[in-house]
Amino acid sequence: MLNLHIACDHAGFELKEAVKSKLHEELTALGLTIVDHGTNSSESCDYPLFANAACQAVTAEKSVGLLICGTGIGMSMVANRHQGIRAALCTTELHAKLARRHNNANVLCLGARMTGSELAKAIILAFFAEHFEGGRHQRRIDLFSK
Ligand code: RB5
Repeated sequence: MLNLHIACDHAGFELKEAVKSKLHEELTALGLTIVDHGTNSSESCDYPLFANAACQAVTAEKSVGLLICGTGIGMSMVANRHQGIRAALCTTELHAKLARRHNNANVLCLGARMTGSELAKAIILAFFAEHFEGGRHQRRIDLFSK
């Protein structure tokens, strides 16, 4: 089993809780154990604090993450400042599949104010069921570092 480190801000709280309760079985079947880094209410908070906590755990364990804020943009910006994190903000299932196959994304970002909860759940399952294709895509990822 691999840990799936999840985090959100107030805007993503409801979706994070829905993921925990509704996708638990499907994620377990994919070999993932959810580890929740907060936030734990809909009270206004600062998303970088939660993104950083989850990304530090993903990096340390070489595992995977899921970050949810209002747009997904702030979470993805913070996540991609971490060495070794390749975070993808996805709004479709195809985004999710290609982020894994081509970009070896290890963190999925979602915007809870942009993407409905049913689509968000489908995106999550598509992302974590998919695998990296390697080959030319690895060569391109190796070119990321400046
Ligand atoms: C919170 O209002 C909102 O700014 C945040 O959830 C996120 O969308 C930032 O990128």
